[in-house]
Amino acid sequence: MKCRLMAIFAVSTALVTTAFIARADGSGDDGSEASRIWIGFAIAPVALNLRGKNRALVGLGSYIVNGQGACNDCHTHPSFMSGGDPYRGEPEVINSEQYLTGGRQFGPSIVSANLTPDQFGRPAGLTFQQFKHTMRTGLDPDGPRPPLPPLLQVMPWPVYAKMSHRDLLAIYEYLRAIPPRADNPSPGP
Ligand code: HEC
Repeated sequence: MKCRLMAIFAVSTALVTTAFIARADGSGDDGSEASRIWIGFAIAPVALNLRGKNRALVGLGSYIVNGQGACNDCHTHPSFMSGGDPYRGEPEVINSEQYLTGGRQFGPSIVSANLTPDQFGRPAGLTFQQFKHTMRTGLDPDGPRPPLPPLLQVMPWPVYAKMSHRDLLAIYEYLRAIPPRADNPSPGP
């Protein structure tokens, strides 16, 4: 009897502990994919169009793009609103108006691409197969630009290339859900 009581106590303690950890920072952050999806939705800086999308993949994709991939650093120009630049010690406000519309210049000939969905809903105008191929190989979907090699410059695609198929699919699904926008009208460094 005592033994059974102990077992019940141990199980209930474990349950309480699990619930506590799950709520530890108010985000349901227990390290599971479900918690990453939850965080992904919490940190998305733009309204998402979930119609016809896989909700879990969109949330996971937002987590990867906004919490790990740093895509905003190079693909939003400027990355932050005036007065919202964390590098100046200001409370962060991401430039949601130009979110992922590209336009950051690196040297004279390299400009980051617009990743928002085109008129057919394809991020950066790419099908998933083309997107995945680009992320895996770095091959520039816009073709060669001699004297540069036909490979994306600046972007850390050798790192992104190592992501799982599902993670790349999640990024793509998230990019499908962000607002479609024209290319950044005022590119710059
Ligand atoms: C360090 C800067 C940097 C980061 C971080 C970065 N990119 Fe890029 N990306 C670029 C630049 C610059 C280009 C264009 C390179 C060129 O033309 O040689 C580019 C091109 C691309 C392209 C090709 C699009 C096209 O039509 O040319 C895709 C797709 C892409 N990036 C997706 C992403 C995603 C998704 C992330 C985040 C997971 C990301 N990038 C993070 C700099 C970056």
